[in-house]
Amino acid sequence: MAGLIPQDFIDDLVARADIIEVIGRRVQLKKAGREFKACCPFHDEKTPSFTVSPAKGFYHCFGCGAHGTAIGFLMEYDHMSFVEAVESLASAMGVDVPRSESDRPARRYDELFSLLDSVARHWQSCLKKSPAAIEYVRQRGIDGSTAKRFGIGYAPDGWSNVLDKFGQSPEAVERLLATGLVIAKDNGGHYDRFRDRIVFPIRDARGRTIGFGGRTLGDGEPKYLNSPETVLFHKGRELYGLYEARQALRHIERLVVVEGYMDAVALARHGIDFAVATLGTATTDEHLNRLFRLTDNVCFAFDGDRAGRKAAWRALENALPLIREGRQVRFVFLPEGHDPDSFVNELGTDAFLEAVEEGVALSEFLIEELAGQVDMATVDGRARLAELARPLVQKIPAGVYRELLVESLAEAVGLTAPKLEKMLGAGPSRDAPGAGRASPGRRRVTSPKTGQPSVVRHAISLVLNYPSSGLTADVERLAGLRRKGADLLQSLIETVQAEPNITTAGMLERFRHDEHGRHLGKLAASELPVDEDFDAAAELTECLDQLAQAGRKDRIAFLIEKQRVDGLSEDEKAELQELLKAA
Ligand code: UTP
Ligand code: MN
Repeated sequence: MAGLIPQDFIDDLVARADIIEVIGRRVQLKKAGREFKACCPFHDEKTPSFTVSPAKGFYHCFGCGAHGTAIGFLMEYDHMSFVEAVESLASAMGVDVPRSESDRPARRYDELFSLLDSVARHWQSCLKKSPAAIEYVRQRGIDGSTAKRFGIGYAPDGWSNVLDKFGQSPEAVERLLATGLVIAKDNGGHYDRFRDRIVFPIRDARGRTIGFGGRTLGDGEPKYLNSPETVLFHKGRELYGLYEARQALRHIERLVVVEGYMDAVALARHGIDFAVATLGTATTDEHLNRLFRLTDNVCFAFDGDRAGRKAAWRALENALPLIREGRQVRFVFLPEGHDPDSFVNELGTDAFLEAVEEGVALSEFLIEELAGQVDMATVDGRARLAELARPLVQKIPAGVYRELLVESLAEAVGLTAPKLEKMLGAGPSRDAPGAGRASPGRRRVTSPKTGQPSVVRHAISLVLNYPSSGLTADVERLAGLRRKGADLLQSLIETVQAEPNITTAGMLERFRHDEHGRHLGKLAASELPVDEDFDAAAELTECLDQLAQAGRKDRIAFLIEKQRVDGLSEDEKAELQELLKAA
C-alpha cells in the first residue's frame, strides 16, 4: 500500500508538516531553546524528556527512546497505519494524497467507507428482525451489548438484498464491487456475497468498517466467508477487535491474539477486552508490528492441537526479529478440543486469565519445540538442536534478550553459553546501524576488524542530522570499505545528492521500509542537540578521510586473505601491490 504513495509526495509532506502543531495538538509542549519539550506521552514520567525539534521535523524521548517524524508520531500516538498517518497529515494540510499506480482521488475512499458503514448498520437492523439469527447469536453466548459493541449483524438470505438496496446506479454497483460486497457474474450482472450469514464488521484503527466476516448459521460451507482483499481491506494486516479493544481500554497493557472472530467476541463478552484475532491467516510481521506499537506484552492463545502449535510456530518465527528487552511474548495452548471461545464459555474468565498467566515464554516454546524434533538423550541430538536453533537465534537482534535465550539453549544442550554462541555464529553486531552487504564473491572471507566501526555510525548521524553536509561528499571514497553500515552511509549520501532539499524527517521516511534503515531514528536522536556554528560538512569530510583509509586497509586484508583461501586474479594481484605501496 505504501508503495502506492509517491515518495516525493512523502518527502514534501514531512518537510512541510509542522511537527510542533501535529504533536502540540495532542501533547502540551513547552519551548526550550530551539526545541520543544513535554512529559513523554509514551511512558510515565515526572520531568520532561520528550523533545521535539522543528528544524529536523523529528521527536525523541531521552527517557524511553521513542522517536520519529510527524508520520511516525501519528502512527504511535493515534495508532494509525502508515497510510492513515499520511492521509491525515495531508488532509490537515488540505492536499489529496496522490496514488502512483492508480489515479483514484482520495475522496473515493470516503465513499467506500461510508458505503461499508451503511451496509453494516443495515445488517445490524436485519439481525434485530430475524428470530433465527438472534437465536444463533444468543446460543453462541453473545449478549446484546457485546453484539452492539462489535456491530454484529445478519445478512439475510437472497441473492440481491444488498445489490437492490445499495446498488441503485452504475457508480453505486461499482462501489459495491470495489468493497467486495457483491460479486460479478460471468455473464454480466452481480449478486450479493454475504447471504444468510451472521456478519462481523472488520474495523480499522479509526473504527471505520473496511470489510466483513460472515458465518453460516448452520453447517454450510464455507463456515466463514470473508471480504476479499480490497483497496481498504488487507487481511494480512488487520487485527479483528483491535478498534474495540482500544475503545474499551484507556491503556492497553497487554494483548491476547486469537484465531477466530468468535474467540475475540466471546472473550470480550467475558470481560477480557484485550483480545484480537488474525482472521484465519498466519500472524504476519505487519500484525506483530501493530501489536508491539500498542503494548510490550503479547500473548498468543491458540488451540492445543497440531494446527494450533503450527500457527504458534509461525507467529514465533515472525516475532523473533521484533523481540527485545522489555517485550514479552507468550504462548498459551488450550486443552485439546478447546478454542478460546469454548474455553471461556465453559470455564469462565478467571480460568482463561490463569491460562494466559501460565503461558510459556517464547524462549521456552522455541526450545521445547526444537527439543521435540531431536533425541535429547544423545550428544548428536543436542548438537542438532543447536543447529536447528541457529537460524532462529540469528533473527533476534543482539542484546540482552538474545543473550538470555542463548543461555537457556546452552543449558538445554549442556554447553557453556560462550561455546554455544560460537557454534551459533555471530549475528548482526550490536553497534552497527545495519548489516553491510558483502558482495557474494567476498562472502567466504571474514571481515577484518581494523579501524573504528563507529566512524561509519558518526558519518551516518552527520548526514542524517545535517543533510546538506552530504551534498559535496565523495561516495567513491567508500569503495572497498567493508564496515557494517557502509552501504547505508552511501545510500544516504546519494539520497541527499539526488534530493538536495531533503530534511532529516524526509530521510527517515525514505528509509522507513528499508531493512537497514529502520534503525536510523536512533541515530537522528543521538545527535539531537544542535550547535550554531558546527561545521557538519567538514566533520563528514574528516570521517570520509578516515573511512577511505580504513577502506584501503580492509581491501588489503581482504585481498591477502583471498590470496590464502582461493588465490588472486592478475588484476587483484596488481591492485594489492598498488595498495601495499601506498600504505
Ligand atoms: P475456526 O475454524 O477455528 O473457527 O477458524 P472458529 O473461530 O472456532 O469458529 P466457530 O467457533 O466455529 O464459529 C478460525 C478463523 O479462521 C477463519 C475465520 O477468521 C475464523 O474466525 N476461517 C475459518 C475462515 O476464514 N474461513 C473458514 O471457512 C473457516
Ligand atoms: Mn470456535
